[in-house]
Amino acid sequence: MLAIEFEQAQKRVQELIPLIEHYRFCYYVLDNPEISDQEFDNLYNELIELETKFPELKTPASPTQKVGAAPSTEFKQVHHRHPLLSLANAMGTDDLDKWEERLAKALDANDVSKLGYVCELKIDGLSIALTYKDGELVEGATRGNGDVGEDVTLNLKTIKSLPKKLNALTLPDGSKKIPAEIDIRGEVYMSVQNFSEVNKQLEEEGEALFANPRNCASGSLRQKDPRKTAKRKLSIWTYNAYVHDEEIEQPKSHHATMSMLKELGFPVEPSFKLVHGMSEVKEFCQLWDEKRHHLDYQTDGIVIKLDDIKLWDWLGATSHSPRWAIAFKYPPEETETVLESIEFDVGRTGAVTPCAMLKPVKLAGTTVKRASLHNYDQIQRLDVRPGDTVVVRKAGEIIPEVLRVVLEKRPAQSEPVVYPETCPICDTPLVRGADEAAFKCPNIYGCKAQITRRLEHFVGKEAMNIDGVGEVLVKQLVESGLVEDAADFFKLDLDSLLTLERMGKKSAEKILQQTESAKNRPMANLFAALGIPHVGVNMAYDLAQYFPSVEKLASASASEIEKIEGVGPNISRSVSEFFKNPQTINLIAKLKEYGVSLEDKEDAKAALKVSDALAGKSFVITGTLKGMDRLKAETEIKQRGGKASSSVSKNTSYLVVGENPGSKLAKAESLNVKVLSEEEFVELLAAN
Ligand code: IVH
Repeated sequence: MLAIEFEQAQKRVQELIPLIEHYRFCYYVLDNPEISDQEFDNLYNELIELETKFPELKTPASPTQKVGAAPSTEFKQVHHRHPLLSLANAMGTDDLDKWEERLAKALDANDVSKLGYVCELKIDGLSIALTYKDGELVEGATRGNGDVGEDVTLNLKTIKSLPKKLNALTLPDGSKKIPAEIDIRGEVYMSVQNFSEVNKQLEEEGEALFANPRNCASGSLRQKDPRKTAKRKLSIWTYNAYVHDEEIEQPKSHHATMSMLKELGFPVEPSFKLVHGMSEVKEFCQLWDEKRHHLDYQTDGIVIKLDDIKLWDWLGATSHSPRWAIAFKYPPEETETVLESIEFDVGRTGAVTPCAMLKPVKLAGTTVKRASLHNYDQIQRLDVRPGDTVVVRKAGEIIPEVLRVVLEKRPAQSEPVVYPETCPICDTPLVRGADEAAFKCPNIYGCKAQITRRLEHFVGKEAMNIDGVGEVLVKQLVESGLVEDAADFFKLDLDSLLTLERMGKKSAEKILQQTESAKNRPMANLFAALGIPHVGVNMAYDLAQYFPSVEKLASASASEIEKIEGVGPNISRSVSEFFKNPQTINLIAKLKEYGVSLEDKEDAKAALKVSDALAGKSFVITGTLKGMDRLKAETEIKQRGGKASSSVSKNTSYLVVGENPGSKLAKAESLNVKVLSEEEFVELLAAN
């Protein structure tokens, strides 16, 4: 009797463990619980009961033995069943012709002019191996040395588009079946847009930046804590499969493999094409040389694979790469130029950023004159010196960067860069925090550069939005002494403005109108304008929802502020410290004195919610809107129950397109997301 009971208990424990692991993953990592806490507790308690009754069923791997711990990646070694090879490169069309000749010889074929090839974009990411058993992802690993990689299964499970459960395939006899086992190959990458957002956030937090989307994807996939990977929003395209199932045949052509991947539910990069003969391959390569710049992911070439899988076996591989495929590489978007000097910019937070001033050079369609050198460590690493010939790169929408120095061209008399020890603007000795990449000027309230940058930020579109006051006027106002801190904008009058060079009465009156109306901006704008460290536009909006006045926010404790979703200890500490600072207290008192509203008016609060008409709808805005700034547009959406998000996905309901839209438009079109012009968006708001 007990033996039967034991067997049943063992079976149930084996069911419960993966189930509990799965729900725990959804809860802790994806932040998206699939069952209620009560249901989870029931499963968990059932497991404890069984393990108490039959202690031999208790193993160290049981979730009961890792109480409260969030799932963590272990990076254990994984031996690849099918090695992950590299590809031979074709650096131009001549190399493609040579490959065709080699194919003709190896296949002993006189006529290869009609050979079938599949051309695919070569995605600049990390190759990955996945194993699914009975339709479930059981293992995901990095390439490693091609034979042995690292287990990153939990991190891969955070990729939204990666199927959790595979679809069944329709077999030739019409029946349906999920493969018993299947090994998948693909490329994990980070979209250019997500990459920019990750770097923007890192910059706000004073952390070191990633040099490019590939490094960012790699760093994100190799996090110990999958919750961090989940936040980075990685993507994947799959491009090969090895079926291990007695009833399912391996597809006979590569384009059939691609169709099978789609049928199983895998994301497949949609631009691939079956072509015939090398001239069609070349046409494809030429077409995508330009088109690739409109994608939201980076491609550095085209992968060309023979379509007939029989030929793959026939041709085989060298120890390094298969003979049935080749990577056509586009010439890198790099060029050489001379670094004339290095300037040191002082930003709003005091961070000193070295910037390379270059002899102007054409690169990927634009003229490049400046390139960021990021920080001191980067200068050391590159050993870059004024007068050096350097290689600069500009990829997609990414700011140009100095890749390396061409040492052979270094002038004989060159001297290493002397990194300033004092602020290039106010001469205060620079300091560097323990874990910070940047040297900073600590003279927060006395350094002209920091004051000016902060003031430029204060009047900016997403802050107090004082139209007509731009960089040039801010500089004039600071230099003339009319404005020393942000409150001084509201003290300006006609007489003082007219003392400025080239200032006419009409312009002065317009500026005063603008400062007057800026006195009544919502708290979301004011909180963004104050430049609280770690608080960007979105966070300012969230803070204002909970603390709709300066007084409420200033008197909130760190733990109260942390109750807001997305606010961690860094932000809450930063907010409380900011409002305790005597300079802030003084600034707030002055703003009050000059009539700037320090709370959201009752009617503003009442106006907060307009309707629920856009509930469940998610909007992304791209480009510049003529009639309203982005914060206002996002507020209007949120006031109607909608969600404003920064990146386009298949869950986006509408993309609102302003002037000079970025790559989001192409992405929305490829995902069939509805696109609204500014006029249509305004109509939609008016109707709801
Ligand atoms: S096929 C043996 N297809 O490029 C077949 N690779 O330089 C090799 N890659 O390690 C893979 N896009 O990480 C293939 N459409 C694509 C690819 C692709 C990117 C990467 C992959 C590979 C590297 C080879």
